[in-house]
Amino acid sequence: MTDLARLVSDIAAEMAACSERGTVASYIPPLARIDPRQFGLCVVLADGTVHQAGDSEQPFSIQSVSKVFALTQALGKIGDALWRRVGREPSGTPFNSIVQLEREQGIPRNPFINAGALVVADVNLAGHAPKLAIGELLRFVRYLADDETIVIDEAVARAEQETGFRNIALANYMRAFGNIRHAPELTLGVYFHQCAIAMSCRQLAMAGRFLMQGGSHGRQAARVVSPQRARRINALMLTCGHYDASGDFAFRVGLPGKSGVGGGILAIAPGKASIAVWSPGLNANGNSMLGTLALERLAEATGWSVFAPSGQA
Ligand code: DON
Repeated sequence: MTDLARLVSDIAAEMAACSERGTVASYIPPLARIDPRQFGLCVVLADGTVHQAGDSEQPFSIQSVSKVFALTQALGKIGDALWRRVGREPSGTPFNSIVQLEREQGIPRNPFINAGALVVADVNLAGHAPKLAIGELLRFVRYLADDETIVIDEAVARAEQETGFRNIALANYMRAFGNIRHAPELTLGVYFHQCAIAMSCRQLAMAGRFLMQGGSHGRQAARVVSPQRARRINALMLTCGHYDASGDFAFRVGLPGKSGVGGGILAIAPGKASIAVWSPGLNANGNSMLGTLALERLAEATGWSVFAPSGQA
């Protein structure tokens, strides 16, 4: 067993023994039913080696982690024009907050808060029927992960629709400012379905490889985005990927990361590793409690924090 393989399995064992696991998201019924005792971790290295432990093959609802893939897709469609409709600053507010939108004329602070992700979904919808826009994103995620078995959980998508009153408010509010260009229910349909993509830690870590590798895909030379774009997406993940807990995540873990209320986190150690962790119990900020702790342990032991001199723990 290599040192890293041992570290990954030690972290999973430590997390399995934790009694304080946070609280599963309760506002979407299918998420409220998930067993909080689960924990999975997968680390994909730049050379393609995969280390995984715990429930790393168990699919879960990736929720807001999907905002990374949807953002990548929208930048591919309209490039820097996106930044006329969405900002690039941390919001300091919870993921579903509406308070800044009026003051800032319907321009969301960043693409990872829900308001920003709705604008991104609206961009991805342009020129498509909603079903095709969703299909395009799902195909993109399957391509990134090299895995055709990834699916959307329709029950979760339906539940999002039935309980998504804040998202419905956000989309309608931004429509009033002209920053949602389609009928809000169509844009919302795209957003609700992207949140309902189900992936395992292994699939998610595989899908994140292009962000570890300066924009290139897998071991082939195929390019998903330019090195500059990969760097910028990582910068947004670091500064905005955990909403009003982004500072705390940078302080504790020191890696670009994107969380979801399903309890998943995708974290990137540029040039070194793409990491996915999942534990359904959330902390007070709505981010995976043990997922964050596991990443803190991993970053500390490997010295992968982007703020550490290379290789120094
Ligand atoms: O918009 C929502 O309410 C959810 N479907 C996704 C939110 C989410 O994952 C926030 N992130 N931590």
